[in-house]
Amino acid sequence: MGNSNNGLVDRYGRNHDYLRISVTDRCNLRCHYCVPNGEHQCMDFEKLLTDDEIIKIVKIGAKLGIKKIRITGGEPLLRKNLPKLIQQIKLIDEIEDIALTTNGVFLKKYGAELKEAGLDRVNISLDSLDEKKFSYITRDGNLQQVLEGIVTAINLGLNPIKINVVLMKDFNVNEVEDFLKWTIREPIDVRFIEYMPIGQGNNIWSDQYQPLSIVEEIAQRIAPYLGITRNKQSGPADQFSFENAKGSFGLIHPISCNFCDACNRLRLTADGHLKPCLFWSDEVSLKQIIDDEHQLLHAFKKAMFIKPERHQMGDAQFDFGNPTTRVMSAIGG
Ligand code: 5AD
Ligand code: SF4
Repeated sequence: MGNSNNGLVDRYGRNHDYLRISVTDRCNLRCHYCVPNGEHQCMDFEKLLTDDEIIKIVKIGAKLGIKKIRITGGEPLLRKNLPKLIQQIKLIDEIEDIALTTNGVFLKKYGAELKEAGLDRVNISLDSLDEKKFSYITRDGNLQQVLEGIVTAINLGLNPIKINVVLMKDFNVNEVEDFLKWTIREPIDVRFIEYMPIGQGNNIWSDQYQPLSIVEEIAQRIAPYLGITRNKQSGPADQFSFENAKGSFGLIHPISCNFCDACNRLRLTADGHLKPCLFWSDEVSLKQIIDDEHQLLHAFKKAMFIKPERHQMGDAQFDFGNPTTRVMSAIGG
């Protein structure tokens, strides 16, 4: 298992084979939990990594053991020529899997092109199945466009199709049942995600945070379901499926059930910073050293060295440093 020279092992023995690349911090939607103020200062275009620079970084990562790539944003489909970037990543021998996290609005338009470029699968963010509520949480998004995007993804066979639902106490707990029943009818994997305090004060968060245990309580009332063996692609999710269902559901509970000890991921921001942990401010800047392979390699090692043992989401005091000031759309989830 893994790369024999174990290139990306951190101080706690965790091996890293997964790189999440944020290709833009811009988004056509502005979800409340992701862009808490409704506005965020977008990065200057000249600060963004170019396609060539991203490829350079991925090649170094691949040498060190990265096998799995996820393209995120902001909304990644806002980046020009994304299919071409995916095509180039696909050509890197060591990369076995390329996934995309998107809000789904442009999937109908670009899905086929992305699939052709080599995209293996998609995660689509969708927090409500009610048009008005969807429009509220996304600050004016159109639910129909996302549903059409999901149909496109299913028809293209971008499997497994995962739907990311961030659970918020007063917003969508009353829709858990609808989301669960949806997995019986359609070949989708609905993944409930605990709301995380990233790039915002603890106040808004603690008001809306809802532990995911409630999902299992609701599922039990619907029909019998079974745990599915974890596979490499399920990552931190606990996965379940109702009897005779076409799809499945998963729980990602970073807070009520910390999974940092199994963390295998590194993040690359659109402005060229390696981020060893979603939660903390620690980063390694690559922009200045982009033409120096040796230094890039060293930067990956440094990211491993400074990676904290775990997050401290929800804690009133922090023992391991400062939480990031980036909003989620500038990290990529
Ligand atoms: N808490 C939990 N999940 C979040 N996401 C964005 N912001 C948050 C947050 N504060 C999710 C999005 C998307 C994924 C990349 O991260 O819904 O599906
Ligand atoms: Fe990994 Fe940090 Fe997420 Fe924990 S919080 S799983 S260490 S990225």
